[in-house]
Amino acid sequence: MNQNRFHSCKKMLRAAAAAAILGCLASTSPAFAAKPTIVPVPMSIVEQQGSFKITPSTAIVYGKGLKPQADILRNRLWSASGMDLRTSEGTKSQQNILLAVDPKKVKEAEGYILSVTPKGITVTGHDAGGVFYGIQSLLQLMPAEVYSKSPVRGVDWSVPAVTVTDAPARPWRGMMLDVARYFYDKEFVKKYIDMMATYKLNKLQLHLIDDSGWRLEIKKYPRLTEVGAWAGPDTKRLGGYYTQDDIREMLDYAAARNVEIIPEIEFPAHILSAVVAYPWLSCTGEQHEMPLQHFISRDLLCAGKQSSIDFLEDVLNETVELFPSKYINIGGDEAVYVRYENCPDCQALMKKLGLTKASELQGYLTNVVADMMAKKGRTVVGWEEIIQRGKVTQPVAALIWHNVADSIQATEGGHKAILTPATHMYLDFPESSTPGEVKAATWMPPISLEKCYSMPVNDYSDKSTVLGVQGSFWSDQFIHGTVLQEIPNINENRSESYAEYLNFPRMLAVSEVAWAPESKRDYKDFLTRVSTHYPRLDYMECSYRVPEPIIEKMTELPAGGVEFTLSPSVEGSQIRYTTDGSYPNVHSAVYTGPVKVNNKDDFRAITVVTPTHYSLPIYFAPDYSAYAQFGKFSGEWKPLQIQSDRMGTVRFDVTGKVGGNGTYEFTFIPTRGSNAIELGAIKLLKRDELLDQTDSAVETVKIGEHRTYKLTVNSFEAGTPFYLDVQAKGNGGNDTQGLLFVRKLD
Ligand code: ACM
Ligand code: ZN
Repeated sequence: MNQNRFHSCKKMLRAAAAAAILGCLASTSPAFAAKPTIVPVPMSIVEQQGSFKITPSTAIVYGKGLKPQADILRNRLWSASGMDLRTSEGTKSQQNILLAVDPKKVKEAEGYILSVTPKGITVTGHDAGGVFYGIQSLLQLMPAEVYSKSPVRGVDWSVPAVTVTDAPARPWRGMMLDVARYFYDKEFVKKYIDMMATYKLNKLQLHLIDDSGWRLEIKKYPRLTEVGAWAGPDTKRLGGYYTQDDIREMLDYAAARNVEIIPEIEFPAHILSAVVAYPWLSCTGEQHEMPLQHFISRDLLCAGKQSSIDFLEDVLNETVELFPSKYINIGGDEAVYVRYENCPDCQALMKKLGLTKASELQGYLTNVVADMMAKKGRTVVGWEEIIQRGKVTQPVAALIWHNVADSIQATEGGHKAILTPATHMYLDFPESSTPGEVKAATWMPPISLEKCYSMPVNDYSDKSTVLGVQGSFWSDQFIHGTVLQEIPNINENRSESYAEYLNFPRMLAVSEVAWAPESKRDYKDFLTRVSTHYPRLDYMECSYRVPEPIIEKMTELPAGGVEFTLSPSVEGSQIRYTTDGSYPNVHSAVYTGPVKVNNKDDFRAITVVTPTHYSLPIYFAPDYSAYAQFGKFSGEWKPLQIQSDRMGTVRFDVTGKVGGNGTYEFTFIPTRGSNAIELGAIKLLKRDELLDQTDSAVETVKIGEHRTYKLTVNSFEAGTPFYLDVQAKGNGGNDTQGLLFVRKLD
C-alpha cells in the first residue's frame, strides 16, 4: 500500500474539488505495471511488450457513423488530461487511435477487438456498441485518473500493449431503476447510464409508474403528471416527472452508450398515481390521494371497461412514439384482484370471456396489449406474473423475480425469460446485516457482493429461453424523501448517494454475471480486479459501499487465540483495527501484518478510503446454530425492555422473517438472567394492520425452557414492514434476556 498516495491524494480527492488534485499519481509506477483489471472479465487478454503513449498530438480517427463514440472518448480524455485530441472520419491510422466497425473481423454482436501496440490503438467492433465497449476496456487499461472530471496533471497517459478479444455471453444485461417511488432527475439517470455503460450493461428498464408516482409526460392525459407526479401539500410537494423532451435527451445519451432504455408502463396494479389523476380508470371510481408512504394499492386498472383499454392504447401509442426500444415493459407484478371480484364491469367481462378467476382478467389485458405492441413491431416484457395469469398468445419476455426455475414455464409458453431473482439481483437489499449497515429492503436476507456474484445462470445460445440477467434497484425505501437517513460513513444523506451506496460495487457483479460465461467467473480474481475500480468510482464521483478488508487467513493458534491475516479490498486504502470488540475508527491502529486476538469476536477491522469514507467492520454474527430447529434468529430482548411490575409491549421487527403467506412459529427462548419472563398476548401486524393474535393467557418461561406460538399471515406484501407486538413482564425482576426465532410451517 502506498501511504503517500493515501494521505496526499485520496484525502484531497474527497475533500476538495477535483480541480485541486495535482499530480497524485506522479510518483507511482506506470499504471500498466499491474495486470489488466477489466470488469466485466473479457473473453481473452494477451499482454505484449511496450506501450502506447497518448499525447496532445494523438488523433482519433473514426469510421462512418462512429462520431458519437469518438466524441465520448475525446471528451473523456479532454476532461481528465486537458489534452484536446483531434477527431476525424477515416479508416487509416498512424500513431493514432482508430475506431472501426468490421462485422467480418468481429463476428459476435457487441463484440470488439482492442489492439494496443507501441504504434497505435485500434478498436474494431462488430457494431457501434462493440466499438463503445472497446473504448471502455481501453479506459480501464489507463490510470484511474482517466475518469476525472477535471484535468489531472503529472499522469503518464500510456496504455500497455495488449490485445483484448471480447464479446458478451448474453444479449440481455440489464438494470431496473425505480424512478417512480423516488424521482431521480434526468441528470442522475444519465449518470446511472454512464455507470451501466462503463460496465457494459445494455438494458435500462425505467420503472416510470407506480402507486406513488407517474413520471412520464403523456400529452393526451396531462393530469397524469400534473397530479400523479406529486405528493404532499402544495408548498412542500415532492416528486417530479420527465417531459417528452427530457426523455429524448436521455434516449440520445443512452443510444451513444449502447444502452436501450425500456419504458415500463405498469398495470393492472401499481397504478394508483393514474387512478388519483383519473378516478374513472379504477373499478370503483373512488377519488384517492397520492400516497406519502410505500404501500401497494388494491385499486387496479379496471379490466372490464373499454375506457381502460383506450387509455392503455393512448398511453402506449405515445410511449412507442417516444422510445425506439424493441421492448416495451408492461409491469404486471403483485396485483391483488379484490376489486375485480366486486366490479360489475369486470364480472360481466369474465362472464363474456368464460373466465373463472378474476386473475385471468390480467391475462386478458396482457393479451390485448401484447397484440397492440406486436402490430407496432414491439415485444412485450414484464414481471413474471404476465405469463402466470392465463395463456398469453404473443411471445413475450418475463422478468423472473421469485424463482429462477419458473423460467421453465416461460419456455413451455414459447416465451423468453430474464433472470432478476430477488435473492441475488435486488440491489435494494443491504449487503450485510452488520450493525450499522444502512436501512434497506428487508423481506429477504442481505445480498453480499459474493452472493450477487454467485447467481447461477446457464450459458446462452440462440435457442436459450433465458436472454440474460438483470439487477433491479427499487426505491420504495425512500419514497418521496429528499433525505433518507444519515449514512455517517459516507458523510452524506442524499437519496442519490444512498442509491449509489446500494448499487456499488454490486453493479459490477451484475455486469460480470451477465457478460461472462460461467466458466470465466472466479470470485477471488473478481475481487482483485474490483479493488482497483474504487479509485475509478471516486474519480467518477460515484459513491459506493466500501468493502470490509478481506480475511486472507484466520488461524486457530495451538496455544489458544486466533490470528488474522488481512488484505485490502480497495486499492490505496488503509486497514485499521481493534482487538477489544469495539468498532474501529479512522484513528485506530493501522494494520501492517497478522494480528493475534484471544477471541475471534474481539477482532474488528475497517477499510479506510479517506477519513470520511470507510467501511463497516469485519463482524462475526453470533452463532445461533444450536437453535436451528426453531428457525431463523429474529430478534432479542434485553433487561431494560421489560418491566417487573406490569405487562408492557415489546416490539420485534420481523420484516424479512415473514416472507409470504402461511403459518409461522414464533419461539421465545430466555437465555440469561435470574428471573423468568411472563408472556401474554402476542400480536402479528403488517405495518399497523393486525393480522393475527394469540389469546392473552399468561405463560411463564424460565431459562432452559422455550415457548412457541403459531400465527398466520394471509395478506403478505413484499416491501411492507411486519411486527410482532408481545405483552411481556419479568417474573420477580427484569434481568431476563433472550432470543426470538421464527419458523415457517409448510
Ligand atoms: C417486484 O419486486 N414487485 C417485481
Ligand atoms: Zn373493474
